[in-house]
Amino acid sequence: MGGLSIIAAWENSRTIDDTPQPLPGKQFVDVFYQEIPWGRFYDNGLSWKMEERPDAPAFPVADADIHRFLQSLFPETEGDKHQVASLFLSEPRRLMNLLIRPEGDKTVPVRNHIDAESRVARHTTRGLFVGTMVPPTASDTQDFDPHPAEPKLSGMQPKAPVFIDRQGNVNFSSERDPFTLLMKFNYDQRGSKAGLPVLEWAAQQVSRYAGIETPDTALMVDGDGSRAALLSERFDVPCGQDSRWLFAMDGAALMGLPTSDKYKANPIQLWRRMDEIARQSKGMSDDDRQKMAEQFFDRFALAWAMADGDLHAKNVSVLFTCDPSAPSPKSIKSTPWKMTLSPAYDTVCTRAIPGFGDDRMALKINGKDDGLSLSAWEKFGGQIGIKDAGNRVACLSEKVALGFAAFATVHPAQWGLDGEYAQSVSRLLDRAATVTRERARYMGVHLDALPQVSINEVMESRMEGLALNTGNQDQEEPIRGKSEVDDMR
Ligand SMILES: Nc1ncnc2c1ncn2[C@@H]1O[C@H](COP(=O)(O)OP(=O)(O)OP(=O)(O)O)[C@@H](O)[C@H]1O
Ligand SMILES: [Mg+2]
Repeated sequence: MGGLSIIAAWENSRTIDDTPQPLPGKQFVDVFYQEIPWGRFYDNGLSWKMEERPDAPAFPVADADIHRFLQSLFPETEGDKHQVASLFLSEPRRLMNLLIRPEGDKTVPVRNHIDAESRVARHTTRGLFVGTMVPPTASDTQDFDPHPAEPKLSGMQPKAPVFIDRQGNVNFSSERDPFTLLMKFNYDQRGSKAGLPVLEWAAQQVSRYAGIETPDTALMVDGDGSRAALLSERFDVPCGQDSRWLFAMDGAALMGLPTSDKYKANPIQLWRRMDEIARQSKGMSDDDRQKMAEQFFDRFALAWAMADGDLHAKNVSVLFTCDPSAPSPKSIKSTPWKMTLSPAYDTVCTRAIPGFGDDRMALKINGKDDGLSLSAWEKFGGQIGIKDAGNRVACLSEKVALGFAAFATVHPAQWGLDGEYAQSVSRLLDRAATVTRERARYMGVHLDALPQVSINEVMESRMEGLALNTGNQDQEEPIRGKSEVDDMR
């Protein structure tokens, strides 16, 4: 079984009735994009429909797919909440950039926006978050019913919606706060998943070093070094002066698949669906579509290079962008939304996790989830219009292996980690270096013949266009290797 098999097996064992339910009668629910009224959903007896306000952009999801899209935004552990229709009629919900509330409900919509002060990079030095975390309030920790419009997140790992305030503190987002970052905090201090946020953080840095766009991330380490969490800045929230509307949609929702089928998608069919939508977009040139094909190919090739067995249909997303001031064609044949693949999130070398040493690709590439040769990648690339597919996957394998080799040279004490947790992290990173080295060799790349890359080179890689002068770089001291740290002890 591909992916994090235990989770998948547990998930499949659940009995969620996620059959889309129509909105009963002629009832409406109000829809906001961030703080702006967008329109309302209603039911025409067959499916949901969106009725946009005259001056608002067309909703980027076809009426027939609205149910699945909304379901895709719910936490997977909230199986019983999948009856979205009846839910929205009784409770307001904030799901990513949408607020959906029953008619007459007074929940105030909130604007999610990132400025120079609230960017995570502004508070990050050498990949580490240097601000503070506002401790959870009594209401965050006590067993009480949270406000239904507190922002919610999809996915299986423990995580929380957060934002950075003017003082540089990370706060949990309540229903009244912006939600600009995800905090992923698998707080297991022992067991096979101990250190997972650090592995994911390293994988994000390595991906960026390999030329793949990723969200800005930072590692947040507890004062006593006993655990860490990953901060991932939302790529679907506008920054600075950007006035575009941003809207992310995952591969399962794009294909109209229920969340429980996220391991069953066929990447080629997903690609065809994306290309079909892109062809209907007013703003997409042939070059834009080719770029999206390359990003899509690279996302799968990255998972292979990284031995990441969890690239299921919810771990690949598209990002729609739209200029709200441009005239909005409401025809279903053309949409004002431009599409790109989203930055790569949820990247993990799953084979490094104890018990997952032979993890396979979560989705099959032309029927195969393991043993994918250069020619298998060339065939896959050919199907979506990529000419240099073999070269692309080999280059990615090289960079990923070099990047993880660099991480394996670091003593986790350099990141403030200590004790058993630091040992788990060290084991995970060593294992990731070994696994990706083997993978590179399988793709014809021999690391012994290449100069080593330093951890500082990997950490310094900043994406073109995302470069941000945080003012922090000058103060950044280089990270030392394991032997240097041992000498100092
Ligand atoms: N930086 C980001 N910006 C915007 N949306 C994000 C970002 N990172 C993740 N997401 C969204 O949140 C969802 C959950 O995040 P993520 O995949 O990291 O969590 P997970 O619990 O590890 O998932 P899984 O169920 O695959 O284990 C993703 O499917 C994606 O839709
Ligand atoms: Mg995920």
